[in-house]
Amino acid sequence: MRLAMGAADIAALLMMVITPALLLPMAAAGKPPSFSCGPGAAQGRYAFCDQRLPVERRAADLVARLTLAEKVWQLGDKAPAVPRLGVPSYMWWSEGLHGLSRWGRGMHFNGTVRAVTSFPQVLLTAASFDDGLWYRIGQAIGTEARALYNLGQAEGLTIWSPNVNIYRDPRWGRGQETPGEDPVTASKYAAAFVRGLQGTSTTTLQTSACCKHATADDLDDWKGAVRYRYDAKVTPQDLADTFNPPFRSCVVDGKATCVMCSYNSVNGVPTCADPDLLTKTIRGEWGMNGYVASDCDAVALIRGGHHYTPTDEDAVAAALKAGMDMDCGNYTQVHSMAALQQGKMTEQDVDKALRNLFAVRMRLGHFNGDPRRSPLYGGLGAADVCSPAHRSLALEAALDGIVLLKNDAGILPLHRSAVTSAAVIGPNADNRGALLGNYFGPPCEFATPLQGLREYVKNIAFRPGCNSTSCDFAKIDEAAAVAGWSEHVILFMGLSQKQEEEGLDRTSLLLPAKQQSLIAAVARAAKRPVILVLLTGGPVDVTFAKNDPKIGAIYPGQAGGLAIAKVLFGEHNPSCRLPVTWYPEGYTQGRFYILEGPSAKSMHRPLWLTYTYAYLSI
Ligand SMILES: *[C@@H]1O[C@H](CO)[C@@H](O)[C@H](O)[C@H]1NC(C)=O
Ligand SMILES: *[C@@H]1O[C@H](CO)[C@@H](O)[C@H](O)[C@H]1NC(C)=O
Ligand SMILES: *[C@@H]1O[C@H](CO)[C@@H](O)[C@H](O)[C@H]1NC(C)=O
Repeated sequence: MRLAMGAADIAALLMMVITPALLLPMAAAGKPPSFSCGPGAAQGRYAFCDQRLPVERRAADLVARLTLAEKVWQLGDKAPAVPRLGVPSYMWWSEGLHGLSRWGRGMHFNGTVRAVTSFPQVLLTAASFDDGLWYRIGQAIGTEARALYNLGQAEGLTIWSPNVNIYRDPRWGRGQETPGEDPVTASKYAAAFVRGLQGTSTTTLQTSACCKHATADDLDDWKGAVRYRYDAKVTPQDLADTFNPPFRSCVVDGKATCVMCSYNSVNGVPTCADPDLLTKTIRGEWGMNGYVASDCDAVALIRGGHHYTPTDEDAVAAALKAGMDMDCGNYTQVHSMAALQQGKMTEQDVDKALRNLFAVRMRLGHFNGDPRRSPLYGGLGAADVCSPAHRSLALEAALDGIVLLKNDAGILPLHRSAVTSAAVIGPNADNRGALLGNYFGPPCEFATPLQGLREYVKNIAFRPGCNSTSCDFAKIDEAAAVAGWSEHVILFMGLSQKQEEEGLDRTSLLLPAKQQSLIAAVARAAKRPVILVLLTGGPVDVTFAKNDPKIGAIYPGQAGGLAIAKVLFGEHNPSCRLPVTWYPEGYTQGRFYILEGPSAKSMHRPLWLTYTYAYLSI
């Protein structure tokens, strides 16, 4: 293990991402949730309303009462009501990666509650290596979801988080959503977060968590190999050692009630049509009690993206027979009747899926009368969203996840009494957009790093230096001049969602365009070593900063401006371990790991196949 740092290696670099911003405009409250089996409900005499029976029996009873046409329309994320049985409509798709998010369709921030607690992006929180913290974050998000539900602003309580794919390639645009590259850390994260989200009640789930995207889903868009149709080349050993453990831990240790199958195929088989993965492994070996969701429109891609089946009906049948229960989108709803008529699948295949789906809705308490009156969660409301406890948890997570990569010149911590003026330079110093990680929601409060520093330093000269994080255009001379006459210089550089996000992988690990030149010029001009704070999701190549004696400290950023200021001023010790390796640019050499995979037979793997600390240590 030379040069590159492994996850547990203190040597160097660091990480970070995000929290929040932006409030949504206020509108009226959402429509009140409807519910089944309340007192006096006409269907109350049916077994599916009988709370004394096991949910499996209740779900089977309800499914048996549905017509075939009603059944197939329950197979999508937007499940329609069945009024004759008093069954309300249900929206399966909600998101809660690091706080409730508007990405899914089920949560609305246009009523009494217009903002929610926005925790740091997962990769930052992972750097705390604290599963108690991860648990409490999951618990807080689940509580806020229940509160939103009670207020009529959530159409469901099935949250499609966490993302526990292994962060193998540093350029992956969604790596920031994950707990990193280490299967052990990711597995611990998975179990802790899921337990928090689902709550401790043995009778009623707080919310249902969904671990995604099974499996080996580690690329979004890279030179034409888009996530909708690429084939992950993975050895059975790597699958067992690396990619599957977090999913296993989700199910076995966290008791997750959902796993989502991914867009990609693995060794030629689309994951949503893979009975070995969905039925034999997840439901069989791991014993999942819950449902398998498809990533949105992944079933359509079995035919349209992977050309794995000749017709739409074959694709739908392949997914249901493999063990997928609910298809995000309407493709399975639309094509199932024809698939049944053509004999490609049977009503029993549909029933099996529906029993899994209704059992989860029942475990959420949705067939026990009005869930807003539930003794466990009925009391939660607006006061439980953005509560002081949740806000301070978000700050704690940010503080504990910021990683110090270098402090050779001993310039940190700063001392409040000694720093009366400073130059703050960089496009990420006062850019709310740059603080937002994938799947953000409207945060309850927000401070940029510049705002955080203003609490500590009286006189600040601020220059963005670049006109955006892309930094195609930089005022280098101006920034260097300000640095030259300032007592202290703090740079806020890095990435934003213009460079890395869902659907967008990077092609290089270097900082964008003129950022590096700007940093070098500012460091040269400064009186003493400068402090470099990097706000990014994924790793960047920081070789230049590591070797520059004028760059005194490299920080990760984004855990919110206040957290950064507190850490810079020594009020909180930073973390010193990264959950993902920060490689020099040369390591990736233009190939994307998951597309080629290590050959099990090759003992002498070329460098580009060996990255990840697991291989570096062999
Ligand atoms: C809030 O937004 C949702 C989704 O757009 C909409 O269905 C609902 O009617 C809105 N509620 C109000 C009160 O405007
Ligand atoms: C299915 O969804 C597509 C895309 O959202 C939409 O255009 C189409 O009308 C829907 N079909 C049905 C039958 O709901
Ligand atoms: C930055 O400046 C360049 C050059 O003037 C311009 O093309 C680009 O649109 C600007 N970007 C932003 C975000 O203002």
